[in-house]
Amino acid sequence: MIKQAIIPLAGLGTRLLPLTSVFAKELLPINGKPGIEFILDECIESGIKEVIFIISKKKEMIKNYFNNDLFYKKIIKEKKDQRIVNEYKKILKYKKMIKFVYQNKPLGTGDAVLKTKKFIKDKYFLMLLPDDLIIKKNCSISMIKVHKKYKSSVMASMNVKKSSVSRWGIYKLNKRLDKNNSLIDDVIEKPTIKEAPSNKAVIGRYILPKTIFKKLLNQKPGKGGEIHITDAIQSLIKENEKFIAHNFSGKYLDCGTMKGYIKSSLEISKI
Ligand code: G1P
Repeated sequence: MIKQAIIPLAGLGTRLLPLTSVFAKELLPINGKPGIEFILDECIESGIKEVIFIISKKKEMIKNYFNNDLFYKKIIKEKKDQRIVNEYKKILKYKKMIKFVYQNKPLGTGDAVLKTKKFIKDKYFLMLLPDDLIIKKNCSISMIKVHKKYKSSVMASMNVKKSSVSRWGIYKLNKRLDKNNSLIDDVIEKPTIKEAPSNKAVIGRYILPKTIFKKLLNQKPGKGGEIHITDAIQSLIKENEKFIAHNFSGKYLDCGTMKGYIKSSLEISKI
């Protein structure tokens, strides 16, 4: 059973400036609902019981959003508005399952994962990158099924344009296990077109083994001076840890860029 999820939230959000100069990008509304709530709902639906938020001092706004009880209690007492009562109940439901840890220096996704080391209890855990929304079909549910079937780590995969490979982690695939799942031979963070072994990209859903922490502890910075989770995954694969690329069937929305963020609201308003 996968019961814990982690969500790196310490990123600066520079791709969304100026919206993120004073505001946490994960709280920006997507069709009227903060992006992070879509991610939390995906977790809840897939049976996750605890979510670890990796924030930074600059992103305390996220913690405040889920810990604003006095404010809600006062407003509810004064206004007796059922809509606000329902919204507060929803926030309380989220709050119960969230734990906060800090990553004050933006040293990369791998470094963010490392901050959760002492809280991860089981052999495997889920990681969701909040810039990547997947709608219409719950990607975490599908990945957990694949994990149960093959007893291995799983990552979401999507075909991207060859010209855009340098924006993503890119897979080199091995054997195909079934229609939507293949074993991963290698994964390369943001390769050039020439270096890219395929046009299959890592999308922000990962079922990772606890053994990843050992790799991260000794890992040197990679591309752009950051500690990448993809590099730690690469070294686990070299030691024969099984990783599966899962070609998910939901619709991917890239909320981390301005163009994608705007499009996300339009897409979600259609469903
Ligand atoms: C991160 C990962 C990358 C992955 C991408 C998916 O990149 O490092 O491997 O393809 O998320 O959104 P970032 O968006 O942080 O640049």
